[in-house]
Amino acid sequence: MSDMVVKTAGFHSRSTSHESFAQLRDQIVGIDLEVPLLNGQRSSYIYFDNSASTPVLREVLDCVNDFMPWYSSVHRGSGLKSRVATQAYDDARQIVGEFFEANGSEHVVIFGKNTTEAINKLSYRLNLSKSDIVIISMMEHHSNDLPWRQTAQVKRVKVDNQGRLLEEDLDELLNKYKGRVKLVAISGGSNVTGHMPDIHKIARKAHAAGAQILVDCAQLAPHRQVEMKSLSDPEHLDYITISGHKMYAPFGTGALIGRRDTFESGIPEQCGGGTIDVVTTSKVEWAAPPDRDEAGSPNVVGAVALAKALKALTRIGMDEIAAHEAELTQYALEKLSKIDGLSILGDADPRNSAGRLGVIPFKLNGLPNGLVAAILSTEWGIGIRSGCFCAHPYVTHLLNVSKREIERFRTEVIAGDRTHMPGVVRVSFGMYNTKAEVDVLAEACAAIAKGNYQGAYKQEKLSGDYYAMGWEPNFRSYFSLQ
Ligand SMILES: Cc1ncc(COP(=O)(O)O)c(C=O)c1O
Repeated sequence: MSDMVVKTAGFHSRSTSHESFAQLRDQIVGIDLEVPLLNGQRSSYIYFDNSASTPVLREVLDCVNDFMPWYSSVHRGSGLKSRVATQAYDDARQIVGEFFEANGSEHVVIFGKNTTEAINKLSYRLNLSKSDIVIISMMEHHSNDLPWRQTAQVKRVKVDNQGRLLEEDLDELLNKYKGRVKLVAISGGSNVTGHMPDIHKIARKAHAAGAQILVDCAQLAPHRQVEMKSLSDPEHLDYITISGHKMYAPFGTGALIGRRDTFESGIPEQCGGGTIDVVTTSKVEWAAPPDRDEAGSPNVVGAVALAKALKALTRIGMDEIAAHEAELTQYALEKLSKIDGLSILGDADPRNSAGRLGVIPFKLNGLPNGLVAAILSTEWGIGIRSGCFCAHPYVTHLLNVSKREIERFRTEVIAGDRTHMPGVVRVSFGMYNTKAEVDVLAEACAAIAKGNYQGAYKQEKLSGDYYAMGWEPNFRSYFSLQ
């Protein structure tokens, strides 16, 4: 890797990316925690589940702590603390908008809990009817699928056998339903395969067909610079959604960033305090955006944390993060593909690492995915996730599960039995992960593939999860509220 100027707090010197990203680990709260293993030893915890949630950056936590004495009601109190908190909340909105190059005259930043809430809000606020078409894709997280099923007719763009979106199928759908497609709602990066569709090219196609576009950026935004672009640009994004807990700010805030005109009229799906200008017993004057769409007292702490995290990401450099994670992904694909019995789903070509996210799904020697996850955790101290990752249609497609089998496990789940749920094991990288950690993962997978693990594992019927029999760490000895 080439030299670069590292702008992260605490290390402004010129150094290689290896050194700088290694130093970045000091900024991660909870890094290298010592955890117990089945064999009685302890090991430095390796966290490879960043697609689910990232840890918190130390400077974000420090910022939250600095803010707490000033925490107070926003937009309503006249006391100094309220005014300080209100200023912080408004600044947070500005910072989030700037991070995505939104402009205040065309766009609005609406804070909420997370991506799921943001997409649900949009699905309501677009005022769709069942004759309207929303085009999603086979690669969507359920959060960018189920809300649209409730409000419109959903059509799905197909993906190929590696899980890559088939743009020609999008073209066909746009053509077939011309005039009825109100929205193309796609993920900017898959939480299963790391596939990144060309969002601006898709935006151009959607706009040419008279539709708007939502890009679910829950996975993309922590790893790549995302630009809204001006509404006059055919490649602009009409709406994007993000989750703070996937961007080193796990304090319960995410955002919907979108075109202001959509939120200037209509009644929000949640109404109450904060959403109005004036109320009489018979009339309501709704507030202008974003207030109309932020019902109740907002999560000021979460917004402050999210803004601080985005400032940190800007300083570290999104391009540097992308380059570091691509290098790590390439390394991991090379190492994992050499393990006998390990098969990677999706695009396994290490040369394509720069064009995808650092999310790698795999199967190991026909072992149940939950068992592999349990062994990695219990015997190696590696935290990953397994299963279908809230993307059942996508994962069953990638695994080539027949309709008959899908129906079988659906019936079983309804009856309280998850033991046969299909799924894969997933590792997902954050900006602070290292090749040394990947080495441990590869060593662990190679051992497991050969049957070299000690524990006897039992599967729980209801959850489908595996546990090492007789091994019950006292979780409250690590953290307790009692
Ligand atoms: C692609 C994608 N979209 C949406 C979500 C939902 O995010 P949240 O749980 O923060 O609402 C996730 C979460 O993993 C995701 O990966």
